[in-house]
Amino acid sequence: MTSMSDLEKISANQEGFNLRARAHLQSSYYDVERFKQGHNMLRKLEQEELGDVRGRSLLELQCHIGVNSLSLARMGAQVTGTDISDEAIDIATGLAGELGLDAKFVQANLYDLPKVLDGEFDMVFTGYGTLSFLPDIHGWAQVAAGYVKPGGTLTIVEIHPILTLFDSVDGELRVARSLFESRDVHHEMSKSYADRIEDEVPVETHSIYGWRWTVEEVVNALVDAGLTIEHLREVPYDARQRLPLMVPDGDHNWRIPGDPIPLSFACVARR
Ligand SMILES: C[S@@+](CC[C@H](N)C(=O)[O-])C[C@H]1O[C@@H](n2cnc3c(N)ncnc32)[C@H](O)[C@@H]1O
Repeated sequence: MTSMSDLEKISANQEGFNLRARAHLQSSYYDVERFKQGHNMLRKLEQEELGDVRGRSLLELQCHIGVNSLSLARMGAQVTGTDISDEAIDIATGLAGELGLDAKFVQANLYDLPKVLDGEFDMVFTGYGTLSFLPDIHGWAQVAAGYVKPGGTLTIVEIHPILTLFDSVDGELRVARSLFESRDVHHEMSKSYADRIEDEVPVETHSIYGWRWTVEEVVNALVDAGLTIEHLREVPYDARQRLPLMVPDGDHNWRIPGDPIPLSFACVARR
């Protein structure tokens, strides 16, 4: 079998995320009913890193079904959200209409976004499971930086890549792979993520392709794209339970007892 091109993998991910977007309407992670009742879907970490968004123009890259973008709109930002999944963008647009929130959503492959979306924003934001679906981190940084106004910021809040190297075996962390040697990821999936592992939602079987990036590669890609790194932060908590040994911390986050490794990182870069 000939190997798949990155474009074919991106296209498979688009199909997979179309299936997942529909399933996520029932996911405890997205908790759409609670969101509709006014709950702010941004966790403390994103809120701390983004700061005051009132009156700011803001672009969220890979916004999925739009609940973060729409929470930012509720907080007073003028929001544009974008994603490759047409189903996710349809759901986001529907939620904005249903809730009377002023936000615009654009469907595009990240790398083709400049063909369909012009403009510069005070803030560009991306978070929680976005960079790992992108085969070219430098290409991503060029696109993302191109949307930041001079003086504006790009904020990333992401799953820490170190977490992806461990499995949990008998309640303990075990190093299962190398960050430097297993860069490409392929999973056949018939479930999608939820807040807790046991609440994962069933989804028609689909393929998901990923690429692991180190924090160094992400940061250097931003520097190469002409941004100045203002702030880098690593924290021992995560937005959802990714390994069975992770426990809720009572603050909408999950931790590994003893906080042995960073589980999320944030980076703010300025143009
Ligand atoms: C794990 S999801 C969620 C991220 C979202 N920020 C959140 O917190 O819900 C990743 C998203 O990235 C999108 N995506 C994957 N590859 C993409 C690409 N090449 N261009 C644009 N969006 C992409 C998927 O469609 C999906 O909605």
